[in-house]
Amino acid sequence: MRLGVLTGGGDCPGLNAVIRAIVRTGAQRDVTFVGFQDGWRGVLDDETMVLDPVTARGILHRGGTILGSSGVNPMRADDGPERIRGAMERHGLDGLVAIGGEGTLGAGAALSDLGIPVIGVPKTIDNDLAGTDVTVGFHTAVQVATDVIDRLHTTAESHDRVIVIEVMGRNAGWIALYAALTGGADMLMIPEKPFDIEDACAHLRHRHMNYASFSIVVVAEGAEPEAGTMPRPDYPLDENGYPRLGGISNMVAPEIEKRTGFETRVTILGHVQRGGTPVAFDRMLGTRFGIAAVELASAGGWGRMVSRQGQDVADVPLAEATGPRKVVPEELYHEAEIFFG
Ligand code: F6P
Repeated sequence: MRLGVLTGGGDCPGLNAVIRAIVRTGAQRDVTFVGFQDGWRGVLDDETMVLDPVTARGILHRGGTILGSSGVNPMRADDGPERIRGAMERHGLDGLVAIGGEGTLGAGAALSDLGIPVIGVPKTIDNDLAGTDVTVGFHTAVQVATDVIDRLHTTAESHDRVIVIEVMGRNAGWIALYAALTGGADMLMIPEKPFDIEDACAHLRHRHMNYASFSIVVVAEGAEPEAGTMPRPDYPLDENGYPRLGGISNMVAPEIEKRTGFETRVTILGHVQRGGTPVAFDRMLGTRFGIAAVELASAGGWGRMVSRQGQDVADVPLAEATGPRKVVPEELYHEAEIFFG
């Protein structure tokens, strides 16, 4: 069997662990590979790299992806499916393994509907993909954010300041909620719950009047104020027409300072959350997903995505990745409210 492998969408730590496990599993089962560069773009343009046990060596601990990544969607390209069929024929491929998030796997599901054999591996630091309990990259992003909150705590305390830290999370507040809980933050704002800035300020006033001289506020980039309560950011659109988020904390912080009188600073974490070394959890998850993807291909499980369910690795229809997003459930948010106002 011969498979093409690609990584698409925003990169994240743990992608190389998936690639390495795919190649190493294949080496034991007589499966060979071709690597496509920069996600679906590499398949469309037939830009490849050698992917074998030599090129996939020494990458387990490395962030990013040796294959490169892009958000190119083959379903929007001229003759996309035909060009993909062409590349597969030229390389003698039996199928493709697409490692990606909603966009990359959504395209994989559409291609699969057209009869192109695709297997999906779910990744995104945002952890908002349906069909799997957790995605590759999420736990590293949480660890980075937690480490930063630890550092912000000491300086916030020294200067009696409020520090607003903005983390990624376009449609779901998973990173924000986990990091706020593990970092011991004092307030949380996530996309699932539009926030009332005056309620937030009342909580900070209460905290500072009674038992603290500083506060840490964690805001997900996709958090939104309740309508009519304060100005909202006007985000520019990216090349795919999606808002390029980032900067809500620059609107939240001045409001807090104006309404409470507490000196307030902002830290926007940005792509630091996506770069660098994967934590052990993401190496393990990526490794198990990589093994499972090759086993699924060998069993002819085209049109499916490997998935973590509890402690197990299973698989679900690829189309599930394009289903309703996995957002923070109400119960978990309520648990978090024990610690946040
Ligand atoms: O989807 C993951 C994510 O990290 C989002 O949280 C963020 O909005 C987006 O990627 C930013 O991606 P880029 O800057 O690469 O367009």
